[in-house]
Amino acid sequence: MANISVIGTGYVGLVSGICFAYLGHNVLGLDLDKEKIDHLKNGSLPIFEPELDRIFSYARDYKKISFTTDYSEAVAFADFIFIAVGTPPKEDGSADLSFVASAYEKICQYIGDNDYKIIVNKSTVPVGTGRWARQFAIDMLARRGVANPEERLDIVSNPEFLREGKAVYDFMNPDRVVIGSDNRDAAWRVASLYEKVNPTLLVSDIATAEMIKYASNSFLAAKISFINEIANICERLGADVDVVARGLGLDHRISPHFLKAGLGFGGSCFPKDVSALISIARQSGIEPQMLLSVIQVNTRQRLRPIEALKAQLGQLAGKAVVLWGLAFKPGTDDVRESPAIAITRALLDEGAIVYAHDPVAKDNFKRSFGSADKLIFIEDKYDNLEKADALILVTDWPEYYDPDFSRFSGKIIFDGRNLWKKEVVLRYARDYIRIG
Ligand SMILES: NC(=O)c1ccc[n+]([C@@H]2O[C@H](COP(=O)([O-])OP(=O)(O)OC[C@H]3O[C@@H](n4cnc5c(N)ncnc54)[C@H](O)[C@@H]3O)[C@@H](O)[C@H]2O)c1
Repeated sequence: MANISVIGTGYVGLVSGICFAYLGHNVLGLDLDKEKIDHLKNGSLPIFEPELDRIFSYARDYKKISFTTDYSEAVAFADFIFIAVGTPPKEDGSADLSFVASAYEKICQYIGDNDYKIIVNKSTVPVGTGRWARQFAIDMLARRGVANPEERLDIVSNPEFLREGKAVYDFMNPDRVVIGSDNRDAAWRVASLYEKVNPTLLVSDIATAEMIKYASNSFLAAKISFINEIANICERLGADVDVVARGLGLDHRISPHFLKAGLGFGGSCFPKDVSALISIARQSGIEPQMLLSVIQVNTRQRLRPIEALKAQLGQLAGKAVVLWGLAFKPGTDDVRESPAIAITRALLDEGAIVYAHDPVAKDNFKRSFGSADKLIFIEDKYDNLEKADALILVTDWPEYYDPDFSRFSGKIIFDGRNLWKKEVVLRYARDYIRIG
């Protein structure tokens, strides 16, 4: 079993670290956030992710995982150093690599004359970052006077494809594990860490592995924007987009996944990764028309409920709207780029009063959105519904599947996830609007 340090204990670093520990490796998780590390040392998880608490306590019981804020400890401990820090978007849409660069810099301060470390990029980084990182690290070791710096490390790209809300399942049952390095031996050594999950392996050069991650996320985002565009056309023509999507998905060349019309994609990955690929394409002299449209359709789709409510209610100033769901999808407390953010902002800008509900993501939403006079968080999903003019279903959490429809009496219901049946809702509601 290998010794693995994981730099960055966010969604990806924590899930990967705990899963590697569960598989029997010895794992040391490092983060700059001392409070997070203190919590983890005490056995408490800073994120909500199904199954994670169970395998975390198993890994802790078997003393397979520990935590630190000290880079010297993390470098000394590990043969493999995984980097899983954030790569958020910059103003211009390109990926901010400052966290990744800082992690490399700190790691290189502690690699010595007799070391050989494999540094594995799990963060999603622009094509070319792995090769840049190798040169950066070698130069830094040379400046420190480390002997034969090019023999002290190899860089491997191992992009992560897990879905929040199903992250543990995805780690243990990956569709594929992609590993790229310009040193094939290092790539196969990283591949061996996954032996117990017996994945389909794809081993490539480092730039190709980096590109696979961006291409995958951009393709899935494109499928979502495609079906949303089809939905909007269906709506005008009186066709049913859910049946159209089923008809498309039955063709095995297309597949049914990611063909669900809704309020568009969000989360920490799709929006930023499509934007980063646009930036990468432009830097290489290509104007990526299709990727630009993917973003444009998505931005417009989030505001569909606002257009629909204005068409029904006229001005929204002073109107009360209940939002069900703040997380960008069910099964997670992550609200990054959630459609709920754009919808809430637009409603408040129109002067509406917003009553917001989510089973787990309220605190994160409060933190990331901030407070506003007319934004009120509700504990029970039916709170204030009676006095509301409209309800928007944003996230299809199971607890919204089968509500007490009689509570919809007299309201306009915007079903942003096509969850309910029109004939059932219309028994009570003033109107029922869905996507497509
Ligand atoms: N979240 C996902 O679903 C997902 C899926 C696949 C890939 N990714 C990619 O994985 C990477 C990490 O994403 P995430 O969602 O886990 O991010 P996150 O923001 O949840 O976690 C990042 C962590 O890194 C820590 N950190 C930042 N700089 C550091 C440094 N120099 N040293 C040590 N720790 C540092 C932060 O404190 C934070 O805890 C990103 O590149 C993302 O695009 C994310």
